[in-house]
Amino acid sequence: MKRKKNTEVDSSHSRTTPTDALVVFGVTGDLARKKIFPALYAMVKRGVLNIPVVGVATSQLSSAQLRKRARDAIRKSGKIDDKPALDRLLSLLSYVSGDYNDLGTFDALKKALGDARRPAHYLAIPPALFVTVIQGLGAAGLAEQARVIVEKPFGRDLASARELNRILRSAFAEDAIFRIDHYLGKEAIMNILYFRFANSFLEPIWNRDHVSSVQITLAEDFGVEGRGAFYESAGALRDVVQNHLFQILALLAMEPPGYQGYGAVHAEKHKVFRAMRPLAPDDLVRGQYAGYRKEQGVAKNSDVETFCALRLFIDSWRWQGVPWYLRAGKSLATTAAEVLVELKPPPQRLFDDSAPVDGLANYLRFRLSPGSAVALAARVKRAGKEFTGVQHELFLLDEQPEEESPYERLLGNAMAGEGALFAHEDCVEAAWAVVDPVLTKHHRAVAYKPGSWGPKAADALITAGGGWHNPIPEEAE
Ligand code: BG6
Repeated sequence: MKRKKNTEVDSSHSRTTPTDALVVFGVTGDLARKKIFPALYAMVKRGVLNIPVVGVATSQLSSAQLRKRARDAIRKSGKIDDKPALDRLLSLLSYVSGDYNDLGTFDALKKALGDARRPAHYLAIPPALFVTVIQGLGAAGLAEQARVIVEKPFGRDLASARELNRILRSAFAEDAIFRIDHYLGKEAIMNILYFRFANSFLEPIWNRDHVSSVQITLAEDFGVEGRGAFYESAGALRDVVQNHLFQILALLAMEPPGYQGYGAVHAEKHKVFRAMRPLAPDDLVRGQYAGYRKEQGVAKNSDVETFCALRLFIDSWRWQGVPWYLRAGKSLATTAAEVLVELKPPPQRLFDDSAPVDGLANYLRFRLSPGSAVALAARVKRAGKEFTGVQHELFLLDEQPEEESPYERLLGNAMAGEGALFAHEDCVEAAWAVVDPVLTKHHRAVAYKPGSWGPKAADALITAGGGWHNPIPEEAE
């Protein structure tokens, strides 16, 4: 496909000019059905979406058929509690069908966009199609003054991530590129940044002198749910560790940003990724739930991991020698995401039960999902003449009704040109550099029982402290 040559783009794009149309490539796909339509509906309800939304895909549908799909998707995701808002959204929706390899598709899109001059193109399509679509947009003159929104996975290793970034940068300026890692749009994860730097009591203990280890767990009690083919090309390390868990880690490990502004946050996160020691095969335990190989689209002899536990180190002044343990898996005992920062025990053993005799020493726990909470565990004396005690949690529940969903928040931000909650090219590449060595060189995946906490071998990664801390189901809190 050739028409107009894409050139390296510098920012002629005004950072905060609002988008005047949203284009969703892959509008008939899973992501649109599960996340994008419900988010658009919520945005219309809040009164923050009032621009044309043009869906693009290869299926031969009419705009009316697309509207029906949108209505069904919204209904499936929850209650339709604002019929006028739904009607408003549907009236904003139109559809362009066509092959992405055909320039005529982009001409039809241009026509559908009418007077819109600053569209945001959301690529809700497999990454293999990015080049074709970006070239099509460039050739039709639809990339100028436009924004582009892409979804993780941003590449599948360091080399492909670089290539993807090169392609994006050939048509869009960096501040017009919005890479969605939806974890960055979650309240509980935004709260890590806020909690760390809006309070001053943490900073004196937030380092190698007082922290003995950090654990981050992302557990799901369901399997790959029809995404077997995708999982075969990804695995847990690529699917959720290199992005979601690493982003959480970076927020926990970063230095205080030097000024108010997201550039400062990105710069500090980037330093964390750069200071992470590249992984070696022994730092990693890969697991696969029994039954995975029977999922549709999965090879009979697949070695793809549905569970991954790893130990890593950040070679910085603050974190030297502190192990970070990360764990993520499908078909585990529960669905929860949690961070546990274990503190060092007191230097002198003044009491017979001084920690950590019964497992963990004092710790700070961030419950990230379900719900959002922060807990600080400390020992308190039991009544009686003995100086013995028990560890209790000071528990702070931080749930706010009417929270925006991550997709609602992130789409709104991308359309407004606000880049704070998006992944940046330099961080994405630095994160790939950490996992790159073990993407191809690793031990075989070990089978584990669905409903368990993954393979036993993962326990051996943690040599000190109370071992893995398994998040408890929410109702037991
Ligand atoms: C996605 C992964 O990015 O995140 C899924 O592709 C995973 O495999 C999901 O289930 C988890 O997101 P959440 O918001 O449900 O915790």
